[in-house]
Amino acid sequence: MPAPELRICVAETDLEAALRLDVRHGLTSHPKRLPMRLHYDGRGSAMFGELTRQPEYYQTRSERAILRDHAAAIAGALGDGPVSVVELGAGRAEKIRPVLDALAGAGRLDAFWPFDVAAGQLREVLLELADAYPGARLGGVVGDFTRDLDQLPDRGGARLVAFLGGTFGNFTGPERSRFLRDLREAVRPGDRFLLGADLVKDPEVILAAYNDAAGVTAEFNRNVLYVLNHRLDADFRPDDFEHVVLWDGDTATIDMRLRAMRAMAVDVAALALDVGFRAGEEIRTGVSVKFHRGELENQLQASGFEPEACWTDERGYMGVFLARAV
Ligand code: SAH
Ligand code: AVI
Repeated sequence: MPAPELRICVAETDLEAALRLDVRHGLTSHPKRLPMRLHYDGRGSAMFGELTRQPEYYQTRSERAILRDHAAAIAGALGDGPVSVVELGAGRAEKIRPVLDALAGAGRLDAFWPFDVAAGQLREVLLELADAYPGARLGGVVGDFTRDLDQLPDRGGARLVAFLGGTFGNFTGPERSRFLRDLREAVRPGDRFLLGADLVKDPEVILAAYNDAAGVTAEFNRNVLYVLNHRLDADFRPDDFEHVVLWDGDTATIDMRLRAMRAMAVDVAALALDVGFRAGEEIRTGVSVKFHRGELENQLQASGFEPEACWTDERGYMGVFLARAV
């Protein structure tokens, strides 16, 4: 098998230009905001890994259990021939492994392509995968799943596109609709979509997951300011910002913010931008929407994906949905 290749959809210069535009726009908006994808530099990706190991962050353990328990059913639902798998926002591509194992064990894993904006981590992950799946074609796609879905790798046979972790919930409503429309345009009828989503549950359980006692989520949230200091020569003092998490029960949305604990002026030197903060002023740093099963199935259906199965963990905390492009 050839060595894993890395397909670059989003060049460094594009990422740099998008960063500048997003930050200028976000920090001059009212209220101020920063996009979620900025959190995942090397430090942010490592911190996200630590966050998933906190006792309060049920999402990773629940979804891992679902995929472990139902990997054979997922592989079986994809027919009996070779399958290529693409994982969007793959991160370390750990949770999908039972599905890859089930396919590889039956000699059916044709290819696996993790797709993520974090290029450094993707390189490391590909080396681990090459040891684990010597018989499969492996490649990474460095891309932005809000822009580059037309670059999904295709080997012509059965294809499974996975999007796990609840990352779908990090989109706003219009972003979710657009993502599903773009994905449906990018796949062929018969391709399968495997979507992991965080389900509505006791708000206390949800809030605790975004406010862990060890303060890892708080530090992950503040990391976006380190990213701006590093990438745009800004002079944020991250410790002057408090991690704030709000729950809106009407929209089932976690809203993450960073609140300035005093009035201050911040210089974003690479943008020649001075940003003033009032004491108590907040930067919106991301949402994490939770779903009702029926509502999500309706949205999949309306977007051209026929729901085929939904598996949950024993507490019903996470849902993994399998749908067929029609
Ligand atoms: N799927 C993994 C990781 C979730 S963390 C899990 O379930 O644990 C979210 C992942 O999405 C990170 O690896 C981050 O780098 C990636 N990501 C965030 N925004 C992205 C974007 N716009 N395009 C591609 N990848 C993105
Ligand atoms: C990646 N994503 C699903 C995480 C979530 O739970 O919304 C991001 C996160 N942010 C803070 N904690 C976790």
